[in-house]
Amino acid sequence: MSTVKVLMDGKTFQMEVDKDTTILEKAMDEDIDIPFSCQSGICSSCIGKLNEGKVEMEVNDGLSDEELENGYILICQSFPRSEKITIEID
Ligand code: FES
Repeated sequence: MSTVKVLMDGKTFQMEVDKDTTILEKAMDEDIDIPFSCQSGICSSCIGKLNEGKVEMEVNDGLSDEELENGYILICQSFPRSEKITIEID
């Protein structure tokens, strides 16, 4: 289990996510309103910046090389891979 914090709209949301669940799926279960559309790693509506921790993405076609280098992730594709994760959404 990972403790995932999402910083969005000036608020902090926290949830526990297991390693086989995407952070978006868990957020939807908990009624945390992360923006999304395709849910398949292409549209980049669910983009966030990983400020702390590690995630593994199945598909990251919606991100440029520069965005990847700068720590941006697609939340619909992100499985938790560290104990603590913090994501910021603009
Ligand atoms: S919802 Fe489209 S890339 Fe995540």
